[in-house]
Amino acid sequence: MNPINALQERGMESVLGPARNAGPSFEKSLLADLANVDWTTLDRQRLALDNAGPLDSEEILPPPIQPASTSGDARNESAEQAGWQALRDGRVAIATVAGGQASRLGFSGPKGAFPLGPVSGTSLFQMMAGQVFRLRQLSGAALPWIIQTGPANHLETMAFFADRSYFGLGKKSVHFACQGTLPALSEGGQFLLETPGSLFRNPDGHGGFYRAIRNSGICPQLREMGVDLLYYCQVDNPLVRMADPIFLGHHLLTEARMSVKVVAKSDPLEKVGLIIEKPDGRLGCIEYSDLAPELAELRNADGQLRFMAGNLAIHCFNLDFVQEMAEAALPLHLAHKDVKVLNGNNPEPTFRPGVKFETFVFDALPLADKSMVQLALREDEFAPVKNRSGSDSIQTSRDALTLRSRRWSQAAGLPVKEQGSVEISAQLCYDQADLSRRSEDLQLKSNGHLVCLGAAR
Ligand code: UD1
Repeated sequence: MNPINALQERGMESVLGPARNAGPSFEKSLLADLANVDWTTLDRQRLALDNAGPLDSEEILPPPIQPASTSGDARNESAEQAGWQALRDGRVAIATVAGGQASRLGFSGPKGAFPLGPVSGTSLFQMMAGQVFRLRQLSGAALPWIIQTGPANHLETMAFFADRSYFGLGKKSVHFACQGTLPALSEGGQFLLETPGSLFRNPDGHGGFYRAIRNSGICPQLREMGVDLLYYCQVDNPLVRMADPIFLGHHLLTEARMSVKVVAKSDPLEKVGLIIEKPDGRLGCIEYSDLAPELAELRNADGQLRFMAGNLAIHCFNLDFVQEMAEAALPLHLAHKDVKVLNGNNPEPTFRPGVKFETFVFDALPLADKSMVQLALREDEFAPVKNRSGSDSIQTSRDALTLRSRRWSQAAGLPVKEQGSVEISAQLCYDQADLSRRSEDLQLKSNGHLVCLGAAR
């Protein structure tokens, strides 16, 4: 659509004023920016400004939940077999969303570059790369890894991987897909300008993952390789069990199209989304900021929280579902914030109220006709790093890594200190059972704090 016509139809031509005053090069650059606007989504954005109405009030239920992968539950056996088979058959790719910056951690750079390792200072990316490496060894499959970046860190993330030789994974098997942006609007539904020649935009939220995957052009390549399943995780959780075979297996055995892992909420107001089941049997996620305290506090007769399924933001998708979601109109979430934009005739940007729009990956859950929910044990699988201090902080995440590493090492008969940090080097093992097996075949070294590979026997 011609941007000028599109603006006129919507009564939004005033956005051109500053560019026209500033000169032809600004006008040209603004028109190029406007040519990239998705006008259908823009219309939904403007409609959402008027309709940020009441939340869904339909009746909800706790969803049925499969046992945790690390629980030793016999009901996981067939899922485990099915998941490993899918991995060995090369049907799986991994995607990690890493569009965020580590500014909340007081670190400048992509969050995945944050040195979280409690002993070695290993980055989040390297910890995850280590799992991918080991899973490739165990499955014999190519296991492509897709990193979803954001406009603020795409180039920096790619350089981070290149500078570290892709952590030994091979350049061709690590892919980078940058999420898109959405223009922010004024409360009155008009565009805002960052400069006379450019709209003020913000990243489109991790719901932009679906389009990022589609736009990266990787889907045909994945299909050619025989990949039809995508395992999804966030970069901020160092305890994540990447491409967990049991999770993949439950997904396959229930013929789900999108699955999710949950953790039992530690308290009713914990800042995790709540996974629920709707009357039609489909799943949904109520974001913590939208959760009514009365609902959060509801308890069963035994005192347990009625709604306890905290969203881990770990999913398994059928690849065709990801492609469908790239075309779907996911709900828009609005954030009313002061934004630094041009204002009137002032040549310098200043703060004024604006509205940012985002989409969320979990809003695709109700669009899947079949889904599966699996529990995860917090101490084994969830210790996100979100804040510099307090809850979900650098320290709480490092402590959880230390506790898990100490447990795994002790189970494998490796000497580790009772005090201080403990870390198992990336790439060494996938889980506790893997470490125990490896410690029988290989000489593993431990100085009490760091367990790593020694010389083979
Ligand atoms: C998120 C989930 C919440 C879940 C929790 C688990 C939302 C709205 N909620 O909360 O339901 O229980 O994680 O830890 O996300 N990211 C992008 N692009 C974006 C925005 C985020 O790639 O535009 C990535 C970040 O790099 C990060 C992840 O998504 O890896 C989570 O984002 P964050 O904003 O930290 O989500 P939370 O509010 O912690």
